[in-house]
Amino acid sequence: MEQIALNLGERSYKIIIADGILDDIGYIIKRQFSWKKIMIITDSNVSKLYAGRVAASLENAGLQAFVEEIPAGESSKSLARAEELYNAALDCRLDRNSAIMALGGGVVGDLAGFIAATYMRGIACIQVPTTLLAQVDSSVGGKVAVNLQRAKNIVGAFYQPSLVVIDSSVLSSLPDREFREGLAEVIKYGVIKDAGFFRWLEENASRLRLSSSDLVYAIKRSCEIKAGVVSQDETEQGIRRILNYGHTVGHALETIFGYGTLLHGEAVALGMVFEARIALLRGIIDERTFLRIEGMVRSAVPVVMPYEPDRDRLIEIMSLDKKNLNEKIVFILPETLGRVGVYTDVTKEEILQAFTIG
Ligand SMILES: NC(=O)c1ccc[n+]([C@@H]2O[C@H](COP(=O)([O-])OP(=O)(O)OC[C@H]3O[C@@H](n4cnc5c(N)ncnc54)[C@H](O)[C@@H]3O)[C@@H](O)[C@H]2O)c1
Repeated sequence: MEQIALNLGERSYKIIIADGILDDIGYIIKRQFSWKKIMIITDSNVSKLYAGRVAASLENAGLQAFVEEIPAGESSKSLARAEELYNAALDCRLDRNSAIMALGGGVVGDLAGFIAATYMRGIACIQVPTTLLAQVDSSVGGKVAVNLQRAKNIVGAFYQPSLVVIDSSVLSSLPDREFREGLAEVIKYGVIKDAGFFRWLEENASRLRLSSSDLVYAIKRSCEIKAGVVSQDETEQGIRRILNYGHTVGHALETIFGYGTLLHGEAVALGMVFEARIALLRGIIDERTFLRIEGMVRSAVPVVMPYEPDRDRLIEIMSLDKKNLNEKIVFILPETLGRVGVYTDVTKEEILQAFTIG
């Protein structure tokens, strides 16, 4: 069993990672916390596979468990769905000595975290992520949100969970496409912070689904890097921005193609290659580094754009991103493997040039 501490003073918490830990979750919670009732929020796919086991584990540890199922998919991250869940929480008489558990991918994690952040002005939250993307990214760091029709993740909060429990064995039921989108975020950690991890991924990424110890290692190293960054900058005023490598272009691609066409990790994969190309054109990285990033991303996350996007529209979307600074588009560009920098001076011409040779 691997344990990582995310240090944020009184909001610190543990991330526990192991292969096959799902059935022990009740005892893990019971040992550390005094909650009596736990409402498990899960989606229609994950519910069938794992909700019964998790609820049984909680009951065996003497906790009262309630399961609330939402339809799988991004459209569940809505205020309407949130209202249903607040009512369910009231029906179960959840109070401040209760907890919400997110059992699922990033959709469930973001929505359930949002409910925990706002129900009764905040009750405890346990993240039990079941996609690779959620295990290495969305369950750690406390960003929770719902979407409005016209803008994604626009209503939300920074609300840290009290505990994250990651069972790598649940990834065996994850479809290959969803597994690969999670790899995009894993590769991102190598590029932004750890050249040795990047090299390890070049050698091992293709067999992660076959080796539970390698998979646990990849998840652990990713969570360590994310926890280290978030510990220094919880609310993204500075260094946390480096986690957005690949996301400036990635988010714009998600928007232009419509959510659901590209998976989030696929859009980030395209964004990482595109942004590395901007770094190459600027002479920040050399060709060999660019080719290593491109080769790693393309072999792990095979994805092509559904069609050639309108470039001016793409730049317009980027210029409206909520992460921009003083109306300037923020790019996180690789400077070498294991290090990135924050750039706000990338010109429209450079972006168009990166397209032309892409
Ligand atoms: N909060 C953050 O920091 C953060 C970071 C990145 C992404 N996100 C959000 O995460 C969401 C995307 O998350 P996602 O990619 O995990 O999508 P998802 O939650 O929709 O899960 C993908 C699909 O896999 C299914 N699934 C989940 N676990 C499974 C398992 N073990 N076996 C079989 N099927 C399983 C789900 O039912 C779903 O159909 C987006 O809403 C995005 O905005 C949040």
